[in-house]
Amino acid sequence: MIRLIGSENAGVGLPAAMDLLRRGGSAVDAVEIAIRAVEANAEDHSVGLGGFPNILGEVELDAGMMDGRDRTSGAVAALKGYLHPISLARLVMERIPHVFLVGDGAARFAREMGAEPAELLTAPAREAWARRLEQDLAPRKLEEVANLPDLWRWVEIATDPQRTHGTVNVVARDAQGHICAGVSTSGWAWKYPGRVGDSPIAGAGFYADDRYGAAACTGTGEMAIRAATAHSVIYAMRMGATLLDAGTQAMVDLNDLGGRYLAGMNFVAMDRDGHHAGFSSYEKASYAHMDASMDAPELLPRTHVTIEQRWDRRNLD
Ligand code: GLY
Repeated sequence: MIRLIGSENAGVGLPAAMDLLRRGGSAVDAVEIAIRAVEANAEDHSVGLGGFPNILGEVELDAGMMDGRDRTSGAVAALKGYLHPISLARLVMERIPHVFLVGDGAARFAREMGAEPAELLTAPAREAWARRLEQDLAPRKLEEVANLPDLWRWVEIATDPQRTHGTVNVVARDAQGHICAGVSTSGWAWKYPGRVGDSPIAGAGFYADDRYGAAACTGTGEMAIRAATAHSVIYAMRMGATLLDAGTQAMVDLNDLGGRYLAGMNFVAMDRDGHHAGFSSYEKASYAHMDASMDAPELLPRTHVTIEQRWDRRNLD
């Protein structure tokens, strides 16, 4: 049974991906085409074009995917100047012996693959960045941000737990029963340059294994990295847990994390038979779903599991 699930904002890409699956396309093709649509959507400020920039005003993108047939995986991170990191993640997976390229190396690879350079910072995203920074920097000027010797402090001032989520993820199951998971993001708004979240990290932001299922996260990436959240969900199913139990246990595990920065987390998950669910630490959150009988995606409620927010800005003293 062919099927697509993803974060709510994935909806714009699911019809084209379903079309492709109906015509016999692979789960990998479906994940790529769905996420490309979101990366090109300038209205979405958490992914690709129009994504909120880092604290220096530069858009840095992360993406990754895993093919459940054999758990091959590819990812790029802290990539500047190219619109479709998910396609580059796929090319890493398919063309080179590595799984993860970052920064200048990822940009060089993009050039070699013939990707078109693109300006990703849109006027609304720049205005939001400038407004936020000017509020804290005054009387300093925006142009001084790049020269601040203690940028690490300013990151803590500028960011807040409401800016730690966003991102798009998609899990696809094709007619052969193969599963793929993919994620793409511009990461936390106003992040420290070079900060990488969970989205390009196999096992943290995404995981797919035809034998058991797939999961993909959106939310506070630092938490999913520390708890290896996407892999946790699949591993619990491997150990015999139901999809609902596996997802709930992974959320509880996140709530058990210590430390000073705990905020929200969401993930979608699918078992090997195509049963699916969404989980969120936010109440009344939903995820997108589409199967072959549908003309358009629907939004389904996520299972809510509380994660207590902690945000202790100690460095501001
Ligand atoms: N989950 C996306 C990020 O933390 O960058």
